[in-house]
Amino acid sequence: MPDHRVSLEVLPMEAPVLELMPTGRILLVDDEAGVRRVLERLLNAEGYEVLQAVDGEQALTIAWAHSIDTILLDMRMPGMSGLDVCRRLRSDPRTTHTPVVFLTGLDDRGFKREALQAGATDFLGKPFDKVELLARLRNTVRVKLYHDNLDRERSDLRHVVQRSMQDLDTATARLERLQSELEVARHETIERLARAAEYRDDETAAHLHRMSHYCHLLARSAGLDEYTAEALRIASPMHDVGKIGIPDHILLKPGRLTGDEFTVMKQHAEIGYRILCDSNSQLMKLAASIAHTHHEKWNGSGYPRALHGEAIPIEGRIAAIADVFDALTSNRPYKLAWSIDDALDYMRTGRGQHFDPNLVDLFIDSLDAVLQIRDRFQET
Ligand SMILES: [Fe+2]
Ligand SMILES: [Fe+2]
Repeated sequence: MPDHRVSLEVLPMEAPVLELMPTGRILLVDDEAGVRRVLERLLNAEGYEVLQAVDGEQALTIAWAHSIDTILLDMRMPGMSGLDVCRRLRSDPRTTHTPVVFLTGLDDRGFKREALQAGATDFLGKPFDKVELLARLRNTVRVKLYHDNLDRERSDLRHVVQRSMQDLDTATARLERLQSELEVARHETIERLARAAEYRDDETAAHLHRMSHYCHLLARSAGLDEYTAEALRIASPMHDVGKIGIPDHILLKPGRLTGDEFTVMKQHAEIGYRILCDSNSQLMKLAASIAHTHHEKWNGSGYPRALHGEAIPIEGRIAAIADVFDALTSNRPYKLAWSIDDALDYMRTGRGQHFDPNLVDLFIDSLDAVLQIRDRFQET
């Protein structure tokens, strides 16, 4: 049997004092009280805090309950062997990185290989040399403290990142709320502006709804994408907003307008354009274009600029069809609604004259959907 007792001869009192007094907590695991006593005295003198365990079970309990900076582990103990203790320590996240220094009288390569495989950090032979022991411990404790520090920094960093992410989430949520409020406000502004024009005229909210949905339908039939079609739906109710600028005696005149009066009336396209133009919003630009061009005619006989054919922007050509069809098929104070057939005949007659011929065809082809919109937005 090798001698496991610490040889006091190798612990001379005049051993050089280490220039640094490392602090750290060491767990001594040895079944021999004498060995623990000698080591405790030595380590305490160096400034270490020392915990002790008499066997493997106790070692594990202490190691998992406290933060330990190095474990000095006896190889041979009753019950659980040093190797088993080492394996258990390594497999638990609380002690995966805790340095384990084996104290052993055994000096064969087979044991060392096994100990390394079990996760040993270092070995010290019994009897041990005090200077060597303290030097090794100083290194392992230093590595452990360095590791703990890294862990702390990493976890601090993780908290900072988590807090930043939370702040970012809150800011994003606020921004999204604001954006959706703005979106609602924008749509409402458009609708209310259109309604303001409606008060000046005989056009009703139902007309604006039907007309704008016809615009959407026709835009999709003409192959425009959903985004553009939806923009047209939202922007088209403002087509007559310029009527705000037309004097009452002309706008509200029950009978036919004189030539001069009609000239004034025609200005609503230009006025509407001026109200809506110069905006950075794509939607307002579209609304301005519709207000400007919804009375242009395919054959160039429209107003205000007598544009011809495809020189009229497609939104103006679409709005012209939607607006006229709905005006024909609605009751107005001065006229009854035309039948659908009469209205369609009128549209066909205007094909290539008043209206873009292709768009008229597409509109008539979509009659079922047109009538569905008409049913959906009846006058109240
Ligand atoms: Fe108009
Ligand atoms: Fe209209």
